[in-house]
Amino acid sequence: MTELRNTASENDTVPAPRRAKGEPRFPGGPAADPAGSHHERRIRSFQPRRSRVTAGQAEALERLWPKWGLDIDGLHKLDLGELLGGRPVVLEIGFGMGEATAQMAAADPDTGILAVDVHTPGQGNLLGLADRNGLSNVRVANGDAIILLREMLEPGALDGLRVYFPDPWPKKRHHKRRIIQPEFLTLAASRMRPGALIHCATDWEPYAEQMLEVLGEHPDFENTQENGGYTPRPPFRPLTRFEGQGLDKGHVVHDLLFRRK
Ligand SMILES: C[S@@+](CC[C@H](N)C(=O)[O-])C[C@H]1O[C@@H](n2cnc3c(N)ncnc32)[C@H](O)[C@@H]1O
Repeated sequence: MTELRNTASENDTVPAPRRAKGEPRFPGGPAADPAGSHHERRIRSFQPRRSRVTAGQAEALERLWPKWGLDIDGLHKLDLGELLGGRPVVLEIGFGMGEATAQMAAADPDTGILAVDVHTPGQGNLLGLADRNGLSNVRVANGDAIILLREMLEPGALDGLRVYFPDPWPKKRHHKRRIIQPEFLTLAASRMRPGALIHCATDWEPYAEQMLEVLGEHPDFENTQENGGYTPRPPFRPLTRFEGQGLDKGHVVHDLLFRRK
């Protein structure tokens, strides 16, 4: 696995700088809920949270957001070729702190990664990692991936889709928040070119079963595994932070790799 230059210490969190009402949290940085006013979705797969950022993450957000960041405002289509220098582009939904994303970008510089999350510290962390490791093939999108897919990507634009350890929403009344659902797959398929791979992983057994069922039944996807089951973790997917936490609790991890027909 590609060795990365490490992030700054995670213990040096700083309170968000004092600012007047309405003043942006990071000048020139990611917007709070960029599509919220005009593309409200009632059921979201993420929990909005106000998280503390480290000094290093804040510095990266302010310095690098104008260069490598984009807000998902849902107001225009993206030209992915232009955004990532003509490389084939894989969308990663929910990169968390971005360590695995940076490793995959370093290992495969000819593929562009459009990495999306709502988590501000993670956005700063990934920007910092990309900068320190000279990764020019990563762009960081802030906001809801559903709005990105629905409003901002052209049909067939994606060469791949990665959803690693999506929030499991274990309570029954929250299952509707799980991102891997038939409607999501229909939307995702429409934005993927034929032959593109969707790669999911989870350490939550009931969610793995749900993923296998909805992907297996979806008319736009076929399993790369001839036996119709889970796939061994492909060598290109590094261990992720959430995966590590799951493994510490004794969870079993399942990968799923399906092809857009
Ligand atoms: C459980 S974490 C996993 C993070 C990372 N993939 C890992 O394995 O360490 C799931 C992440 O997905 C993000 N997320 C969930 N739904 C999302 C959506 N619709 N758009 C963007 N990010 C989303 C959450 O903010 C969270 O950071």
